[in-house]
Amino acid sequence: MKIITDIAEMRRFVAQAKAAGKTVGLVATLGGMHEGHLSLIDAARADCDVVVVSIFLNPTQFGPSEDLAAYPRTPEADHAACDSRGVDVVFAPSVKTIYGGDSLTEIRVRKLSETLCGRSRPIHFTGVCTVVAKLFNIIPAHKAYFGAKDYQQSVVIRRMVADLNAPIEIVVCPTVREGDGLALSTRNKYLSADERGQAAELYGALSMAAEMIRSSRPPAADVIAAIGRHLAERAPLGEIDYVQTVDPDDLTDVQDTDGPLVIALAVRFGGTRLIDNMRVDAPAQAN
Ligand code: PAJ
Repeated sequence: MKIITDIAEMRRFVAQAKAAGKTVGLVATLGGMHEGHLSLIDAARADCDVVVVSIFLNPTQFGPSEDLAAYPRTPEADHAACDSRGVDVVFAPSVKTIYGGDSLTEIRVRKLSETLCGRSRPIHFTGVCTVVAKLFNIIPAHKAYFGAKDYQQSVVIRRMVADLNAPIEIVVCPTVREGDGLALSTRNKYLSADERGQAAELYGALSMAAEMIRSSRPPAADVIAAIGRHLAERAPLGEIDYVQTVDPDDLTDVQDTDGPLVIALAVRFGGTRLIDNMRVDAPAQAN
């Protein structure tokens, strides 16, 4: 496995692979890798001839009071994990390499970046889009793989790619969970034992809500209230940031639960903010 830190060298590698007729897949990460990241690598490995993983702790997507300084940095373990899953190249640039020039350009996907996590993280998706667009230009892969765990991020990036006519296919892969349902996240490491126990109730609440929708299609407000009660009872250490039922494509709030929707939530345990979501499809049409 190659580790590349230089933009020109990274571009040369991709150009050579493409000239040899190979398909290239990209998995973008902040590092602190876990099986969620590795599932994206496996999907890319199964689909593409060459797999590139970027590891870049992107400062511009963290707000001033967020956890950039404390974010896990585990380069050796990340490289070993990538190697063991058959990654061809890790692209690990420095902050100076990515943002060294006096850049005046930002990419903002309006509306989609302003709801859900965007309400409490106003600059987050602009930081994500700007760095992902840069990565797509440095590593012009055929396909890029993202996790459904960060559902809003996947919608925002798909829209950016469509709006900018970027020649890359976005593949969204299912959320990988612990045995008790907690979605794998680099931030789970910050949880105390009690918080960790209760954090599984995010999945518990989503599963309960999905079941409620499938069985009786109640108004979305009733579903949201039931999630609030579930979490108040079973995860009292958690403080809800938001619970919303949204249209899977445009992320606007839905009031009735007859169509496809995504239940999305963010809950804070102490200083740790966790997100999760679940899609519920419309009932099958009777013939
Ligand atoms: P990061 O949080 O490191 O996540 C990298 C990728 O792994 C994202 O596509 C994310 O959705 C996916 N992922 C994380 N946890 C997952 C899980 N439990 N199951 C499946 N996939 C999971 O998301 C980012 O980095 C950054 O915003 C980035 C896109 C790299 C831009 O800086």
